[in-house]
Amino acid sequence: MIKFVCNDYNEMSRLAAEIVAGQITAKRDSVLGLPAGSTPVGMYMELVKKKLDYKNIIAFNLGEYYPISKRNNLSYYNLLHEIFFNKINIRRENIRLFDGETSDPDEECRKFEEDINRAGGLDLIVLGIGSNCHIGFNEPSDKLVLGTHVNDLTPRTIKESSKFFATPEETPRRSMTMGMGTIFAAKKILLLANGSNKADAVAQMFSGRISTRCPATLLNLHHDVTIILDSAAAAKI
Ligand code: GLP
Repeated sequence: MIKFVCNDYNEMSRLAAEIVAGQITAKRDSVLGLPAGSTPVGMYMELVKKKLDYKNIIAFNLGEYYPISKRNNLSYYNLLHEIFFNKINIRRENIRLFDGETSDPDEECRKFEEDINRAGGLDLIVLGIGSNCHIGFNEPSDKLVLGTHVNDLTPRTIKESSKFFATPEETPRRSMTMGMGTIFAAKKILLLANGSNKADAVAQMFSGRISTRCPATLLNLHHDVTIILDSAAAAKI
């Protein structure tokens, strides 16, 4: 794993955008796995500023709450459109996001995995990390699922997510997520983490141990991982 420790969030975001831009410049039709959440917002803003030719990139998102309306401001569908897709020249047909409104989430996950394979697999996946060490919505557990799947969120993730939803009852209890195998099949992985609430999870990644109880630790087994941290997230390494 290659690790960069930046002074602050802005520096982390600029460096992440450089790496993603490098990938797109080297391969105009790059297949990308993209996260939502607060961590990558600055990176997307930097990428928008770069005004690259995004026409031929193919974008998949990492996960989505389930169920959730596309119109809900907190859906990852909406977030990724607002902060990134609506501001770049990507072809609409090249955007493949989970449908949080589907009545058959298992089938949606099966098709999602199939679509990634049909696109030729992910060239680069960008990841955030949950404070409980989750990747996408692969939550700490005795067993992890290889492929894209429907998953129950842990009480901690529901609690953290519920800060954003108007009422706790509105917070989705489930998700659709790329599995660890889907993520591992990406040629390159870029993980971003900022803030002191990520320091424990980040420290576990660098502990020299791996465990399904901390899904992010499994990234140590991938051959091409770059991790960009701000100083607060790196404080316990
Ligand atoms: C969420 C998402 C992840 C994200 C993580 C951290 O639950 N499923 O993809 O990376 O938690 O979120 P944030 O960036 O807001 O801290």
